[in-house]
Amino acid sequence: MVQNIDDNQISNHSSNRTFEDVLRVGMSRRHLLARSAALSATGFLASMVSHNGNGWGTLTAMAQAKPATRPTINFQPVLAKDGSGPVPNISADYQYDVLIPWGTPLKDGVPEYDGNPVTRPTAAQQAQQIGIGHDGMWLFPLGNGNTSGVLAINHEFGGNTHILGKANPASLEDVRLSQHAHGVSVVELKKQNGKWDVVRNSKKNRRIHVNTPVKFTGPVANSDLLKTPAGNAPLGTLNNCANGKTPWGTYLTCEENFNGYFGDKAGTWTATPEQARYGFSKAGFGYGWEKFDDRFDLSNPRYKNEENTYGWVVEIDPMDASQTPVKRTALGRFKHENAELVVGRGGRAVVYMGDDERFDYIYKFVSEANWRSMQARGISPLDRGKLYVAKFNDDFTGEWLELSINNPKLKARFKTQAEVLTYARIAGDLLGATKMDRPEWISTAPNGDVYCTLTNNSRRTAAQVDKANPLGPNPDGHIIKWRDADNHVGLTFKWDIYVLSQDTHGTTDERTFSSPDGLWADPDGRLFIQTDGGQKKGLNDQMLVADPNNNQIIRRLFTGVTDCEVTGLAVTPDRRTMFVNLQHPGDGDPTKTNFPAAQGSGKVPRDATIVITRKDGGIIGS
Ligand code: FEO
Ligand code: CA
Ligand code: CA
Repeated sequence: MVQNIDDNQISNHSSNRTFEDVLRVGMSRRHLLARSAALSATGFLASMVSHNGNGWGTLTAMAQAKPATRPTINFQPVLAKDGSGPVPNISADYQYDVLIPWGTPLKDGVPEYDGNPVTRPTAAQQAQQIGIGHDGMWLFPLGNGNTSGVLAINHEFGGNTHILGKANPASLEDVRLSQHAHGVSVVELKKQNGKWDVVRNSKKNRRIHVNTPVKFTGPVANSDLLKTPAGNAPLGTLNNCANGKTPWGTYLTCEENFNGYFGDKAGTWTATPEQARYGFSKAGFGYGWEKFDDRFDLSNPRYKNEENTYGWVVEIDPMDASQTPVKRTALGRFKHENAELVVGRGGRAVVYMGDDERFDYIYKFVSEANWRSMQARGISPLDRGKLYVAKFNDDFTGEWLELSINNPKLKARFKTQAEVLTYARIAGDLLGATKMDRPEWISTAPNGDVYCTLTNNSRRTAAQVDKANPLGPNPDGHIIKWRDADNHVGLTFKWDIYVLSQDTHGTTDERTFSSPDGLWADPDGRLFIQTDGGQKKGLNDQMLVADPNNNQIIRRLFTGVTDCEVTGLAVTPDRRTMFVNLQHPGDGDPTKTNFPAAQGSGKVPRDATIVITRKDGGIIGS
């Protein structure tokens, strides 16, 4: 949240219709009937599409699909009045421990950074410690996985003041410290004496950061678009937001706001249309890396195209620290939030992905063939397939539009499929994709429904609303769901809105949440909702558990600390342990919170993972 200076920009200036025309003609009669009693001047559009607990599920055939049994959600919620302050608050039925805060060493002999505001880690130390900005993650089991596993965890970002203790880097060493705090940690964990901890010196432990060698595969791999005049080998991953996991046991890390790390050192750079569409600017987000690292200097002709090496989904083998992370270009280049991989009809790998920017798109990748047969032929299922962008129609149907150079609309603009994938946003513009309210996480429920958080969009005007994005402005966000034809492989879908956040804000409504972001549908049909900013009733950011087929049931399990984001989620196979992240506690300001150090200690707050268990040992969320 705090990084998103760029959130104030809109880089999609395409003329794709925002459905104002659709609204004029297409407001559904059945919606009017369903909600006519609830209409209000301010809630008119919300009333058109959100459910009120009576009759939701009758709006579309898709919404009628329900699991055979309702998920159990019986825990005592954290009440809104109790959900603030400098330390976490958790349901009375649950407990938590703190794990791997920023600066935790991954090897013996590496010091721990404890939040001392004067003594910061060196860049070399940070490269062997847990990074900052904990975000998406997953636990890969060792043994039965319930007491041992390898955690792959993203380090999305940390502001200079938080990491360096100053607003601007003064040296290459400062830039390297910042760069090494970004990326991914792979860390072996073990539960001993009731507590999870790092297995120091595990051969699986590794840091992947902005200067780690990476490689490219897929249609863009050998393109000149990834080559710089300097001829440097590809390095690094950054702004690793949320994640995915594959059925073949690898981790997917998603590069989101990569534009913010580039800047114009010489003051001579002007944006190409492609750079403008991806939001590059003279000062970026103010990291200042370009002042000491030419790779991030947009004005340096020797590093032309360096910016094209970011914005991808990156595959990491959590069990092999010698593996070179692979950027899978077939999945397209945009501000990737997460990568929800499901196995669709015929064993195809299907990956749902959101591009988190105001008015940007939702995408789907479908592998060429059965993932097992592709692997047996030595081909990654993520290297060959088709990429689609979503169009949400006014009648609650939708279409997946293929991003193919064979489409005349794209052939008129691009020369190669590599260009189409590298500038996927522009291809989406040309195909008429639906401009969404910042697509964040996507997760698939056991009944096949796919959910996506649309976190907010303060820039959508009343004239720009459509049925899929029905509020203008939309300061609190909503959650949309769809069901693809043909078991995730089809080119059409039906969709509906699960919940508008504003509908939970009533004065006596304990469900209140805003800006939904992290999302996970568990195998029992519970939906875990994590938030990023702007909560009502004085609440800190939080995690709630919902029954998505009855949004009267949305219950608060946990609240984070002052000015942190709650994001990222992993579970043991028995789902009796859940890992959740507190990102940028206090926005890095020790006067707001010293978490996880004792309050009043003066320590810099550190991003950390929280290990959640039920006091009775039950399934998390129950
Ligand atoms: Fe990294 Fe869109 O959250
Ligand atoms: Ca997010
Ligand atoms: Ca967010």
